[in-house]
Amino acid sequence: MKTFELLDKDRIKENLTSKKIGRRLVIFKSTASTNDIGWEYAKADNSDGLTIFAESQTAGRGRRNNKWLSDEGMGLLLSVVLKANKITAETLNLTIAVALTEAIAKNGCSAKIKWPNDIYINGKKAAGILIESKTSHKKTDYVVGIGINCHQKIDDFPDDIRHSATSIDIETAEICNRNKIAADVLNQIDLWLTKDKSRIAERWRQKCSQIGERIELEFDKNRFIGNCIDIDPERGLILQIEGGGVRVFQAAQTTIIKR
Ligand code: BTN
Repeated sequence: MKTFELLDKDRIKENLTSKKIGRRLVIFKSTASTNDIGWEYAKADNSDGLTIFAESQTAGRGRRNNKWLSDEGMGLLLSVVLKANKITAETLNLTIAVALTEAIAKNGCSAKIKWPNDIYINGKKAAGILIESKTSHKKTDYVVGIGINCHQKIDDFPDDIRHSATSIDIETAEICNRNKIAADVLNQIDLWLTKDKSRIAERWRQKCSQIGERIELEFDKNRFIGNCIDIDPERGLILQIEGGGVRVFQAAQTTIIKR
């Protein structure tokens, strides 16, 4: 089995220019889910921006109870703690997606956003976002979980996703530098969190592959089909529904139907 360079705090920090995100970071060899560790750290007041990485996860999770492939050393598996943040979940989702596509672009791949939480390279899924939140006394904490496929080869993916998944190594035909990509991701999150929501939505529109496309989705157990006409950074994806009317769909309650 090929071994790749391990994640290393100093190597990540060599390229880290962020003010807040990832200035404190911890790296686990293995954990159940970095999001769970994120929630442990989120109990402390001084954990805003703290980032947890793991080389592998035994219970890596995605949206809708999906598992996230977390084989040792193959991907980037990280969670960022955001404390008492004023941003809404809807805008945060767009912000992280934009930051990820920008970070991946700095590493040789043109990435596209597939709302609500997928990042695609050349039509295949390369990264996913899982944002969890807890609100108490009108303050919302977030744990932003991110998984990026880095060193996987086609055969490393299980049969059911082999045709639809990719990695940065596959797409660049090179061995990528996970420590640099990690720093780029943290820098870009730090940067895009400072931008106003109209700027974020504008960049999101440029990066999204679904604008103008016919989309079928499930929302609150109902199916809808329509043409994707825009995004509202506070309210969600806007569809011109076949048969009439315009509807807005919030990320948390929506699943895109695979066709
Ligand atoms: C998805 O595509 O459904 C989202 C996948 C998110 C996976 C990441 S890996 C790091 C963090 N810890 C987890 O358990 N999940 C997220």
